[in-house]
Amino acid sequence: MSENVYIADIAKYADKEVQIKGWLYNKRHSGKLWFLQVRDGTGIIQSVVFKGSVSDEVFKNCEELTQESSVTVTGTVSADKRSAIGYEIQVKELEIVSVSEEYPITPKEHGTSFLMDRRHLWLRSSRQHAIISIRHEVIKACRDFFDGRGFTLVDAPVFTPNACEGTSTLFETDYFDTKAFLTQSGQLYMEAGAMAFGKAYCFGPTFRAEKSKTRRHLTEFWMIEPEVAYMDLAGDMDLAENFVEYVVQRVLKNKKSELESLERNLEALQKVIRPFPRISYDEATEILKKAEAEFEYGSDFGGTDETIISEGFDRPVMVHRYPAAIKAFYMKEDPEDTSKALCVDMLAPEGYGEIIGGGQREDDLDILIEKIKKHDLPMEAFNWYLDLRKYGTVPHSGFGMGIERMVSWVCGLSHVRETIPFPRLMHRLSP
Ligand code: 4AD
Ligand code: MG
Repeated sequence: MSENVYIADIAKYADKEVQIKGWLYNKRHSGKLWFLQVRDGTGIIQSVVFKGSVSDEVFKNCEELTQESSVTVTGTVSADKRSAIGYEIQVKELEIVSVSEEYPITPKEHGTSFLMDRRHLWLRSSRQHAIISIRHEVIKACRDFFDGRGFTLVDAPVFTPNACEGTSTLFETDYFDTKAFLTQSGQLYMEAGAMAFGKAYCFGPTFRAEKSKTRRHLTEFWMIEPEVAYMDLAGDMDLAENFVEYVVQRVLKNKKSELESLERNLEALQKVIRPFPRISYDEATEILKKAEAEFEYGSDFGGTDETIISEGFDRPVMVHRYPAAIKAFYMKEDPEDTSKALCVDMLAPEGYGEIIGGGQREDDLDILIEKIKKHDLPMEAFNWYLDLRKYGTVPHSGFGMGIERMVSWVCGLSHVRETIPFPRLMHRLSP
């Protein structure tokens, strides 16, 4: 009896007879040979069918075998230097489990919207496979980083009664006889978490009704958000750079072959080592001025501005102290210049723009009440949040990192839509 194995483990079975259960990825013919590329979800292996080694029926089946038909292949594992995984299978038996008819995604080029409409099938392609497995590694690294540093996972709710990141990107939904909003960020809940656990983080889907159709925006994205009591802005920046260095270096170590298959420039990622440069908003605007960018002092940076600012650096740059007027209500004013907020954005190099947003939170009850009024937010919805300032308020800080922005940069992709299994965009709710 041959052992049923996964392609990922094939090196353990050199010269042994094994069975692979998978799907036909591609095939090629040459005289008395068929070369079947069989994938099983963990990898792709070339399975060589020699006319003299199999029954006539098996050889004939190879001819009829269509892309994505499900098959089980039995044969001997043999070392092969030309193979990307170092092994191939000399086939003895081949069983067709189910015939796939006219699989729409062929090895030729297809347009993005054609592929996006078939995302449920596109995920089987090797490139998408590499990206999603890198995403998995990014998420594992994020969790390991915080789990290994005494943070407690405090899950934030998805249905919320209030806005966190401004009212213009809220998704509203009926909630029995009232309204609820899909969360834009778990931050406010993490502030409660930090007061309860000292160091807390949440990780989950967040939602923004982004009407922009940029290569950086999804309407549903996953965010990891740490929050720490008694930590100031400088500590927040230390934490953020430690975190990003850890995640990038982990992916480089564990997903090198996937990165190579995406033709990612690894040298650029190898440079992502602390310390990261830190510049103020004012310094960043000087860079824009020198580059003669069309930019008005006091406004927020657009995608192009972020690219120009980050161009001068070979690793992520942290821009701190933006004008308070363009930032969220919860940000603490800089005591040295109250027109500025104690906040930070981390901009990835190579034109990827903002991957992290965060900062120190307003911990003074009266100032916070004023801010909520100034931002025209409904006070009742924030009563619970104000309690955090009434009962033992302390300085505290945190940040949020969008998983898809991180994956997009690490993989070197031109759009975030390929970094999430089933992307949700302004004009895409399906599949
Ligand atoms: O800068 P943002 O809006 O910050 C917050 O939500 C804070 N409350 C987080 C915190 O301090 N706990 O979003 C944080 C990050 C961005 O830097 C970006 O990586 C990602 O979330 N992000 C998006 N990613 C994909 N599509 C979108 N529409 C995104 N909006 C933000
Ligand atoms: Mg931001």
